[in-house]
Amino acid sequence: MSRFPFPILTAEEAASLIDDGATVGFSGFTPAGAAKIVPTAMAARATALHAAGKPWRIGVITGASTGPSLDGALASADAIAWRTPYQSNDTLRKSINAGRTVYFDMHLSQVQPWLRAGFLGKVDWAVIEVCDIGADGSVVLTTSVGVANTLARIAGKVILELNSKQPAFLRGLHDIYEPADPPSRREIPLLGARGRIGDTVVRIDPARIAGVVLNNAEDEVRGFDETTEVTRAIGANVARFLAAERKAGRLPDGLPFQSGVGNIANAVIEAMAQNEDIPAFDLYSEVIQDGVISLIERGRITFASGTSLTVTPSVIQRVYANWDAFRDKLVLRPQEISNSPEMVRRLGIVAINTALELDIGGNVNSTHVLGRQMMNGIGGSGDFTRNAHLSIFTCPSVQKGGAISTIVPFVSHLDHSEHSVQVIATEHGVADLRGKDPRGRADAIIENCVDPQYKDILRAYVKSCGETHSYCHPDKSFIFHQAFQRHKDMRKAAELL
Ligand code: COA
Repeated sequence: MSRFPFPILTAEEAASLIDDGATVGFSGFTPAGAAKIVPTAMAARATALHAAGKPWRIGVITGASTGPSLDGALASADAIAWRTPYQSNDTLRKSINAGRTVYFDMHLSQVQPWLRAGFLGKVDWAVIEVCDIGADGSVVLTTSVGVANTLARIAGKVILELNSKQPAFLRGLHDIYEPADPPSRREIPLLGARGRIGDTVVRIDPARIAGVVLNNAEDEVRGFDETTEVTRAIGANVARFLAAERKAGRLPDGLPFQSGVGNIANAVIEAMAQNEDIPAFDLYSEVIQDGVISLIERGRITFASGTSLTVTPSVIQRVYANWDAFRDKLVLRPQEISNSPEMVRRLGIVAINTALELDIGGNVNSTHVLGRQMMNGIGGSGDFTRNAHLSIFTCPSVQKGGAISTIVPFVSHLDHSEHSVQVIATEHGVADLRGKDPRGRADAIIENCVDPQYKDILRAYVKSCGETHSYCHPDKSFIFHQAFQRHKDMRKAAELL
């Protein structure tokens, strides 16, 4: 007998409730806390219906990317008609780049206000992973919040995935706070990374809970690649720069850090922890990754506020086994709070994110490989970058064995403009762009960050623009990109400049 008054459904029964064309919001920010067995059952249903010549494709809203059981399964079944706000799944990426899935790439802090405003249409269903359910419809989320609290409140109907792998003692990990919308919005009453302003549970109207599906699947979080010489050098360059900033009095102790996702971000955080001139610090970020957990254990990170606990299965077991040591050092917030521009400004966050490509003016492309192929999306990088005390972008200087310089005359797609980017770091060094005009920025980036084999090409490009305030030469940038697309080799493209 369950102690909650909601029907227990199989995943297949839950999936059968959802009609072709529905908009479905799923919990999950990264694979952490993502709904798992209901979307997999939906994918099986879609495959069966498609085989019978019947349509079944849905709109999918989550906090951010998810795992193979959600984005992977649904994309493999060709069941995603449109998707927002972020993804990082190979099969889904192919469907997007083939024009099969409509993908709306948006700032993650905006998803909840947009859901409430109705900009994303009506949400028919929410499927939310939880670890505890009360008779009154209050639920405890698992390893992420993302947009789950808003989806659960506004969706027409809600299906809960009760995951027995996630302990009920997670009650207290979450700080659920949903601000009022303009014109009634007030300041977010949070004054530091460690503060708490909300509820520990999400309260759902019991009449809208269609049923509970029992689940015991782990989060499908993958580990990191080993650090490489390049990622270690990027990390060390960022750490040295930050230590020097601190010494110069431009980086007060106590400012929290935000760190992007992936291997470089992991290497940067590790390098900061190893640098003895940087005191232990708080994180006010989006994703709490494996590296953060070991730095909490080593006392180098004192507190981590995020919207997801994106750690691998073995690390989450370590965290749960030592929960008493972690419970007062972690908090998960809705992404409109973890990524709130208001909070980023107020706390003076130092933001460190990764670029795919950047240009000698300091403009950054985070999303489109060669300007054409969607990689993942802007994620939270814009929320933090535009509002940070100091915004740093990291990037390896070359890709594809050196055939591509990631630093180009003009980015092939723009996500973060020169006005929001203050520091660039590659394995070769750091360019500090503060207070510099376009020519000064170009010189700093070329001399400090570009790979030696591309320096002369970019110096010649700047010189060819003549003695002006700007380095930019739109015609030449265009010719360069056309040639680059054709040859896939920047050295050949440069011959045409
Ligand atoms: N030109 C051509 N190809 C490029 C390229 C460039 N300038 N830059 C990268 N690539 C290719 C790489 O070679 C690699 O290809 P492969 O998969 O065939 O090996 C692929 O693109 C991924 O590059 P990689 O360097 O491994 O990326 P990453 O895992 O370090 O991630 C981003 C970098 C930018 C994609 C990732 O950080 C991201 O999605 N950022 C946006 C969201 C964000 O910042 N979120 C954090 C906010 S809190």
